[in-house]
Amino acid sequence: MRTSQPQTIFLKDYRVPAFLVDHVDLRFELFEDGARVHCTLAMRRNPDSDSSDKSLELDGDSLTTLESVSLDGNPLEGSAYEDRDDKLTLHEVPDQFNLGIVTWIEPQNNTRLEGLYKSSGMFCTQCEAEGFRCITYFPDRPDVMARFRTRVEADKTRYPILLSNGNDVEKGDLADGRHFVTWEDPFPKPCYLFALVAGDLVEKRDSFKTMSARDIDLRMYVEPRNAEKCDHAMDSLKRAMRWDEEVYGREYDLDIFMIVAVDDFNMGAMENKGLNIFNSSCVLASQETATDMAFQRIESIVAHEYFHNWSGNRVTCRDWFQLSLKEGFTVFRDSCFSADVGSPTVKRIEDATMLRTAQFAEDAGPMAHPVRPESYMEITNFYTLTIYEKGSEVVGMIHTLLGADLFRKGSDLYFERHDGQAVTTDDFVRAMEDASGRDLSQFRLWYEQSGTPELTVRDEFDDAAGIYRLTIDQSIPDTPGQTNKKPQHIPFAIGLLSADGQPLPLKLTADDAEAPMDCVLELTDASHTFEFHGLSERPVPSLLRGFSAPVRVFYPWTREQLTFLMSHDPDGFNRWDAGQRLAVDVINSLVSSTGENVDAGLVEAYRSLLADSSLDQALVAKMLQLPSEAYLIELADQPNVPAIHRARERVLEHLARSLRDELLACYHRNTLSGPYEVTPEAVARRSLRNTALAWLLHVDDEEGRTLAISQFNESDNMTDRMGALRALVNSGYEKEQEQALADFYRQWKDDPQVVEQWFAVQSGSSRTGGLRKIHELMEHSAFDWKNPNKIRSVIGVFAGQNLPAFHAEDGAGYQFLAEQVRKLDDSNPQIAARLVSPLTRWRKFAPVHGDQMKSALETIRDKSGLSRDVYEVVHKSLA
Ligand code: PHE
Ligand code: ZN
Repeated sequence: MRTSQPQTIFLKDYRVPAFLVDHVDLRFELFEDGARVHCTLAMRRNPDSDSSDKSLELDGDSLTTLESVSLDGNPLEGSAYEDRDDKLTLHEVPDQFNLGIVTWIEPQNNTRLEGLYKSSGMFCTQCEAEGFRCITYFPDRPDVMARFRTRVEADKTRYPILLSNGNDVEKGDLADGRHFVTWEDPFPKPCYLFALVAGDLVEKRDSFKTMSARDIDLRMYVEPRNAEKCDHAMDSLKRAMRWDEEVYGREYDLDIFMIVAVDDFNMGAMENKGLNIFNSSCVLASQETATDMAFQRIESIVAHEYFHNWSGNRVTCRDWFQLSLKEGFTVFRDSCFSADVGSPTVKRIEDATMLRTAQFAEDAGPMAHPVRPESYMEITNFYTLTIYEKGSEVVGMIHTLLGADLFRKGSDLYFERHDGQAVTTDDFVRAMEDASGRDLSQFRLWYEQSGTPELTVRDEFDDAAGIYRLTIDQSIPDTPGQTNKKPQHIPFAIGLLSADGQPLPLKLTADDAEAPMDCVLELTDASHTFEFHGLSERPVPSLLRGFSAPVRVFYPWTREQLTFLMSHDPDGFNRWDAGQRLAVDVINSLVSSTGENVDAGLVEAYRSLLADSSLDQALVAKMLQLPSEAYLIELADQPNVPAIHRARERVLEHLARSLRDELLACYHRNTLSGPYEVTPEAVARRSLRNTALAWLLHVDDEEGRTLAISQFNESDNMTDRMGALRALVNSGYEKEQEQALADFYRQWKDDPQVVEQWFAVQSGSSRTGGLRKIHELMEHSAFDWKNPNKIRSVIGVFAGQNLPAFHAEDGAGYQFLAEQVRKLDDSNPQIAARLVSPLTRWRKFAPVHGDQMKSALETIRDKSGLSRDVYEVVHKSLA
């Protein structure tokens, strides 16, 4: 627990490490009442350091007992070192030496889930970002890379499986029913990639032949009850391994690749070298227990962690300010992978939705920070949408500007130049520049400036000359610590359409013979005007195609133009986007004038979407999703949450009633027979069918009710079962709803991943998930304060998705969240700090809400002994 005020750490203070570690020898003795860690470090002075300090400083955190320290085999007297304030300082060390440290730690009491801890009876580790220092004293920073040898000792019956990074080189039995396995990792790595697992797990094996014909042993380790839920992750892994060879020329380097599933995990998954550890909910799946969305999420996370082996492990980060070096690039890689194995347009829509809803909000709030931050208090707070998703967009823009071939040349150069090194985002950009010959100096501002650029687009048509002029102004709003920003280098993809919906050639000069039908304009100045020649009529512009940059675009679209683009734009993403803009416009006009009717144009647009089965059904399924409340709130100034909720509900009801026949037809047309498959087509059809069902039940349609009940009872997969359950939960059919929820729980109570979905469907529902319901769920025997997934599926989903209840007039939702944060801060500060996030945007709301959100934050601030994690978020939000 913290006693003094947390310190801010600055990028500008970076210094190379004074000492390097060549080799780490670890021996873990695991017991029920604790673990003894014997650590021997082969250290030497760093020739690149100009520090002449004779002393050595190591990081430590929550280490129960320091049992001994020795130098070159000689035990040190207590006067030779100082063990204080999370640091171990040796007053004087030679230029080269072996340092021996023995610590005693208590994994069984570790509720923070950082370092070594226990999760449902097994030992596991989480060392990123600074968890290794909870295991032993160490120079815990990513630019210290060492070879690790790890011996794990434990009771053989309780823990038959003992794992660490690399290859197992020795194993054997010990006295008292104990045994050991020794692992050796030949690749130098930062300690954040260290991992250890000990448990009673079943092993699932497969293999992969690499492009140079090496056979890799693939192993998954899970609790016996999950043995049947591994196939999808294993298949995803093999697809990812092949894809990385084909698209990036990257081959796996070790002989074994292992995946372990654990139930208690703060994040999604972790890319430890050769031993990835996953949150069970991000890796285990069967058709009966996981939805299509979960299948897709698992595939992308398995790929993400695998891709880190090159983008993160072989080439790692110099310091934590460079986090996006590995995360942004790896998210970009996993997004392209998902696009390639699924539907590219749908993937782009999903990424853009997340970015525009949540990352834009972050970038406009008090925690806004650049993709490469300048400072932080607690690095754990910087695993953000900005680092991950905006970071990925930034890499994606480099891809757009260079084209696929030069981008690949750049990534080849990057991996070759920096293999085995800890580097910076600037090194990444430089490799891209050197390989392509392009100047990315202005582009680098994407890493330095926070805030979402705003593009205002104006156009005019010169009838006589046949010239269409597009003027684009860019500006970036002020963000904490940053004002008067410079214009950025923005790739702006566009097309022009004729009145009859044909794409027009884009002639940038009058005699441009080979004009393309779409192009990427490069914006570099505060204002840019582009001229398009040879046009006989005023075109309709299709702007920011494929969401070519993470920016907001303002253009005075008419509803007619949007309806037109919805059905004619050759760019699938922009078709969808036009539909979203139209729906936003319609909903917003009902927010401001409640007497208004729902625009008939919107109904007709949806009618043709539902009727035309020749359209790409995956795209149609996305187009039928109305903009979320969270997105509508994000777009609004001083949003009136209840009014937004009511307006959106009204539109939904109106659509459901007006399109009843089409919805029923869509439902039946998309009923699948045959075995369950997760192909883009099948996913789209289930999604369409479940959307139709949800809309029908939204207006308590009797036929819909019958369909929902039989779908709930008869489905052979979780997507349809959950679709029916969700539709019932959001309907007025209380009896049926209670029945279905009870049946569902009875059937799945022993499966934590399904119980989490059962919690979430209730806490996220504006019909049933009021505060009273939330309290009831938290008192349920399946709720567990020690399990982050349970906290997320009840408290997180309530505050993030059940927006009318969270923003209830009386402020009870805010007070509730603050109370949970205060409580959780004592056991798991990392999760507590994440939960605060919905309160941090209090300035965005009208005082009736904002003031109450602010006072909720103050009650957190005033708690004594607040963790550094929560301290940073709360203080920055109130500043
Ligand atoms: N590095 C992990 C990933 O994105 C995320 C993570 C961060 C996991 C910190 C645990 C702790 O792949
Ligand atoms: Zn990652």
